[in-house]
Amino acid sequence: MKTDSLFSPFQLKSLNLKNRIVMAPMTRSFSPDGVPTDDVAVYYTKRAAGEVGLILSEGTVIDRPASSNDRNIPHFYGEKALAGWQNVINNVHSAGGSMGPQIWHMGVMDNHYSGWLPDAPFEGPSGLNRPGSENGQAMTDSDIADTITAFGKAAYHAKQLGFDCIEIHGAHGYLIDQFFWEKTNLRSDVYGGRSLPERSRFALEVIKEIRRQVGDDFALIIRLSQWKPADYNNKLAQTPQEMEAWLNPMAEAGVDIFHCSQRRFWEPEFEGSDLNFAGWAKKITGKPTITVGSVGLTGEFLAAFQGESSQPSSLDELLRRFDRGDFDLVAVGRPLLADPEWMQKIRDNRTGELKGFRKEALAELI
Ligand SMILES: Cc1cc2nc3c(=O)[nH]c(=O)nc-3n(C[C@H](O)[C@H](O)[C@H](O)COP(=O)(O)O)c2cc1C
Repeated sequence: MKTDSLFSPFQLKSLNLKNRIVMAPMTRSFSPDGVPTDDVAVYYTKRAAGEVGLILSEGTVIDRPASSNDRNIPHFYGEKALAGWQNVINNVHSAGGSMGPQIWHMGVMDNHYSGWLPDAPFEGPSGLNRPGSENGQAMTDSDIADTITAFGKAAYHAKQLGFDCIEIHGAHGYLIDQFFWEKTNLRSDVYGGRSLPERSRFALEVIKEIRRQVGDDFALIIRLSQWKPADYNNKLAQTPQEMEAWLNPMAEAGVDIFHCSQRRFWEPEFEGSDLNFAGWAKKITGKPTITVGSVGLTGEFLAAFQGESSQPSSLDELLRRFDRGDFDLVAVGRPLLADPEWMQKIRDNRTGELKGFRKEALAELI
């Protein structure tokens, strides 16, 4: 495999990356009471030392009483948690890496299996954790305003701590995506509506507030997914025209890079073209994009949670699309979770040493 093109640098605003590989954000739940420990810093620093171009943190939650359903997911607010993140970014930088936190509000969730619950009811556009199922409250205007402020504060802190960029988690059925999806956003006020652009208002206000807090020169990524955990085949945008009406306002509001989440990067987004989501997002907006989904592995990530193992697979199809200019960056999840040296093995063509992925890898920080 000739992977040289993946090892070219990438520069955009505050981002100066030595190569095109991004560590995908992956929740690890190793931050007791929301505070990232030294173990968490060591885990990320190993990926920086392992030559990963950009590390995106696991989703880290904003300052709202019910932004999380898991006590051990890191916070991105409060003195202790921010000191933990300061330790993370200092160590990542010392190892020559670049990193941004993935800023997250989960929205209306299922209760965690541990029985732990946040201090307030879950909140979302309509109190639904999936279509037809209620497990929280519909947000009031002041809840929405406070949440937008909390996103902005988290972004401000990311810049203050010295991170290289931030990513907004707008995907996978969590809060921002609950607003996008007509089946979880039943509102009749300005945050709801029949069209996707109308239901994007919340996301646009979050983006604008973040841009206001970090200034023009700080790179801002948003992660989006057409699929939902409750419906893998869902398409928020059914056509390129609908995708244009969804993404262009976000680009205008201040998004620099679209991170287009698919379970399998090779799946075409619309009929009549082999372009994937990242390919279309780049074509439509002209902005750089990140692709993701089963890069270098045979099986996809949600099946991995059910215990399905994946073997290493060829990067040829990825490289074909990358070299054609479909996307600028490539996010890799499970291979980097299981093996901090994955990048070096790819670069040096040590394919026999690639590990694949087994569910057991989730149980520890290596
Ligand atoms: C353990 C685990 C935790 C994840 N947590 C997050 C998360 O916090 N935020 C997010 O946007 N995606 C999350 N994902 C999805 C990954 O970022 C990525 O999109 C997915 O694993 C597909 O990439 P892969 O096939 O290379 O693993 C998670 C995936 C895994 C395996």
